[in-house]
Amino acid sequence: MNKPNDLVSSIDPDDIDCNDSPNEHFNTVLNARLSRRSLLRGGMASAATAIFGAVGLSACSSDDPAPVAPTPTPTPTPVPTEKLLAFNAVPKTLADMVTVPAGYTASVIYALGDPLNGTTPAYKNDGTDDNFDTRAGDHHDGMEFYGLSANGTATTSSSDRGLLAVNHEATTDAKLSSFFLHANGGVTTLPRPVAEVDKEVAIHGVSVVEVKKTGAAWAYVKESSFNRRITPLTDIELSGPARGNALLVTKYSPTATKTRGTLNNCGTGKSPWGSFLTGEENWSGYFVRGAADDAARAGDKSIASLKRYGRNQGAASRHGWESAGSDDKYARWDISKKGASADGSDDYRNEMNGMGYIVEMDPYDKSKSARKRTALGRYAHESAAFGNPVVGQQLAVYMGDDSRNEYIYKFVSTAVWAAADASASDRMATGDKYLDSGKLYVAKINADGSGQWIELAMSNAAIAGYSAYKFADQADIAINARLAADAVGATKMDRPEWCSVNPANGEIYYSLTNNSNRAVDPSSSQLAPDSSNPRAYTDMKGSSAQTGNPNGHILRMKEGAGGSAATSFTWDVYLFGAEAGANGGFVNLSNLTADQDFSSPDGLAFSPYTGICWIQTDDGAYTDVTNCMMLAAVPGTVGDGAKVTLNHPKANGGTLAVDTYVGKKPTAETLKRFLVGPVGSEITGICETPDGKSMFINIQHPGENTSQANLADPSKYTSQWPSNAGYGPGKRPRSATIVITKNDGGRIGS
Ligand code: FEO
Ligand code: CA
Ligand code: CA
Ligand code: CA
Repeated sequence: MNKPNDLVSSIDPDDIDCNDSPNEHFNTVLNARLSRRSLLRGGMASAATAIFGAVGLSACSSDDPAPVAPTPTPTPTPVPTEKLLAFNAVPKTLADMVTVPAGYTASVIYALGDPLNGTTPAYKNDGTDDNFDTRAGDHHDGMEFYGLSANGTATTSSSDRGLLAVNHEATTDAKLSSFFLHANGGVTTLPRPVAEVDKEVAIHGVSVVEVKKTGAAWAYVKESSFNRRITPLTDIELSGPARGNALLVTKYSPTATKTRGTLNNCGTGKSPWGSFLTGEENWSGYFVRGAADDAARAGDKSIASLKRYGRNQGAASRHGWESAGSDDKYARWDISKKGASADGSDDYRNEMNGMGYIVEMDPYDKSKSARKRTALGRYAHESAAFGNPVVGQQLAVYMGDDSRNEYIYKFVSTAVWAAADASASDRMATGDKYLDSGKLYVAKINADGSGQWIELAMSNAAIAGYSAYKFADQADIAINARLAADAVGATKMDRPEWCSVNPANGEIYYSLTNNSNRAVDPSSSQLAPDSSNPRAYTDMKGSSAQTGNPNGHILRMKEGAGGSAATSFTWDVYLFGAEAGANGGFVNLSNLTADQDFSSPDGLAFSPYTGICWIQTDDGAYTDVTNCMMLAAVPGTVGDGAKVTLNHPKANGGTLAVDTYVGKKPTAETLKRFLVGPVGSEITGICETPDGKSMFINIQHPGENTSQANLADPSKYTSQWPSNAGYGPGKRPRSATIVITKNDGGRIGS
């Protein structure tokens, strides 16, 4: 999500910076020392291969004894049967439409408000619609496809019928209200009316919707028995180490075993056993905390936790849902300590500890409760990407925490992968097996091209003895993963968004979308560039100067010895986002051309069928020139490029030398823009049918920058999509799923 307009929502929730731990400054000093040392070693390290071979791996092995690794079974690699990226690149454009290459067709199939059963009325799109718990939610985001056979059973081979599990992250808001959802734009002062709040709550969460192809045309199936909504009010089980923990006791669940709903669902994942994973991202902003709550909590350690997760005392909530009345379903959004109990069973002081997880659900079975997998840690989750599973080895799940200066994580299961589990009949029980027990790691990235995965556990003395927060046990570490990562000196990144694993070689790609808080001469709230976040520059958008790393980059990691369970890795930067004309020495380090340039990578997913790496943007920096986009890429491998030293000029006349590793520069054959979206939209959510011939993606928040004051005048909406593409009544813009097909019946991206 990106750039709400004003008042309470004047800060992009993605951009909240809650990390004031000192570890990055230490890292920066260390990295600067390392980079000087590398320079002193002379020009020997001009080739990245030399770095990785001579410095990176040997440095790792001395710090970190290599585990004994079973011989990996190679994962089947997608084999292109046709020339990939043969389409003509789509030019940058500000047109209010979805633009795809010649020879392709994009069609809208599932938009905000579409009914999910036969009794919910058709969507009028005039602000009078209700019953959103039986309609498509808002702000479609991450999404996965689950095949259905002709007789309605789960299959991985169907390419003409299936279920889409769709995240509904948030809503287009201005002054508190989701204004496109209300006839008059909604009430913009507190208290918020019950009817408005009930609608706004229900448009969040997840939907499961059946889609079906008839002839060449896809449509969603309104009356499918598989259709399902999960909202912030749906009962969800807490699972893993934090289940039953004192930090999760609430009035609603004194046994700390369940919570209500999932919120701000952003990236997704698909497990090797066919379940759906959804990441809870900017949930913190939905809670209000009283101005005197520190005193009410009498100095207990929850204050440090709340601060680290973005809720200082006096913090206002994004929509004021707590103000709609005394009913418990509204009261829960106020996390002030109000009750007299010692354990929190008479109020919602611990309610926020129930949000911030990877949530697993079975898309095929709506009788089964979703489960929050607490072992994977609590933070602002994006996607959850599994390493390529190898029989007899532990499973790795890669994840990021999307806020400025947050971290990259990995979970490694205790259980080793059994091939029979790929077709397990009880998918949630299989999730219990792999996702409730294991080790959680955070990434520390070194300037020499190496890195370590550091386990977050009480056995780590830095965690057990951390002075800023006294950890009690592994449940406490999972719930307060950010604090544990601070304690071990993890590397602060430029906002980790999605990650994905290359099916061809197991390398892990992370979108680092942007960071306005990098500076060569940093203030106390900023960070100096470091090797894996090496840029700090000024980009002009009209007359406004955007500083830091406005265009983002894509980090790439290769596991060391041990495969999924490795505790060391090597890395480089696959691509740097930039404008094609930008300075090639400091900004356009990947030498992007006009057919390739992009800003703020966010969604990122490898196709398991073609092997193409799809890159999607959620940008506010380059939107004076182009709407957000999706690109197709055929990347190489970690270390295929070269080491580059950026000599940033400092204010005092000196230079800050930062070594980084730039992946091999793309060519016209290996990176090409495939799609540009409507005005104000983010391009997100990507999945395909197994034949690779139908691709589903999401268009999130078209018309986002419309002023609430202009609601009565559709001509002033910044976007009228998808009604201007012939989908549905009314001119209010709607988030929607589209399907892309190739007119000659070929695979997408060929
Ligand atoms: Fe919901 Fe970090 O994007
Ligand atoms: Ca985003
Ligand atoms: Ca610019
Ligand atoms: Ca995102």
